[in-house]
Amino acid sequence: MANRQPLIGGNWKMNLSPADARGPCSALLDGLDAGLLAKCGVSLFPPFPYLSQISDLTAGSGVSIGGQDVSAHENGAYTGQTSASMLLEVGCTSTLVGHSERRHGLGESDSVLNAKVLVAMKAGLDVMLCVGETLDERESGQSEAIVLQQLQEGLQGVSINDLGRLTIAYEPVWAIGTGRNATPGDAQSMHQSIRADLGKQYDDGSANGVRILYGGSVKPDNAEAIFAQPDVDGGLIGGASLQSEDFLDIVRAAVATVDS
Ligand code: PGA
Repeated sequence: MANRQPLIGGNWKMNLSPADARGPCSALLDGLDAGLLAKCGVSLFPPFPYLSQISDLTAGSGVSIGGQDVSAHENGAYTGQTSASMLLEVGCTSTLVGHSERRHGLGESDSVLNAKVLVAMKAGLDVMLCVGETLDERESGQSEAIVLQQLQEGLQGVSINDLGRLTIAYEPVWAIGTGRNATPGDAQSMHQSIRADLGKQYDDGSANGVRILYGGSVKPDNAEAIFAQPDVDGGLIGGASLQSEDFLDIVRAAVATVDS
């Protein structure tokens, strides 16, 4: 995995009540000892209304928190949106951009997602840009072309100096929440293409520093085989992040690939 430290993100999506969130979050923090956190980054992406609460709970723990989305605008008359500066204000250090439930579910275009990437980075947030093909695109042999187009359009205008703020999450849409995950070999092959493309857009040294996470039905029993691939630097976890023991096991799987 070169010198990249793995990262495990927990995307809670629109799940858990505030009361239900505290328990798993505290159990997670209890289970994450300094030894694990020295080897693996851990970020949580709670629903917006809980960010302050989870920020207080995680303060000083080494676990970072981020937004599930961010506005493409800095401020103004944008009802229902949340700005990068608001995310920073409540303790976020990062944000997801382009999760498929927004890209495909809400029709967010590459140009809107690119604007979000630029605004978030300018404000000082790290960005996890999600890319991934649908089942139709995979079955018609277009996966790589689609993913690389999302990557290139999403990163328009991002300078090489800002690559340190970037993580890519490859999440095949057909694998999200379906129990059907990419094989470790399929994940590796797409991650390698993404890294090669970053090398072309920037340079190989910078591309080697960017973490590329896999997401889509990662569970304790498949995590280690996926994370052991040389270009897979951890995972973005949905369903299994709602159970602290499963999420901890997934963090341990990422650490095991560092230790091996
Ligand atoms: P899943 O979700 O782990 O439930 O498949 C992953 C994601 O949407 O980030």
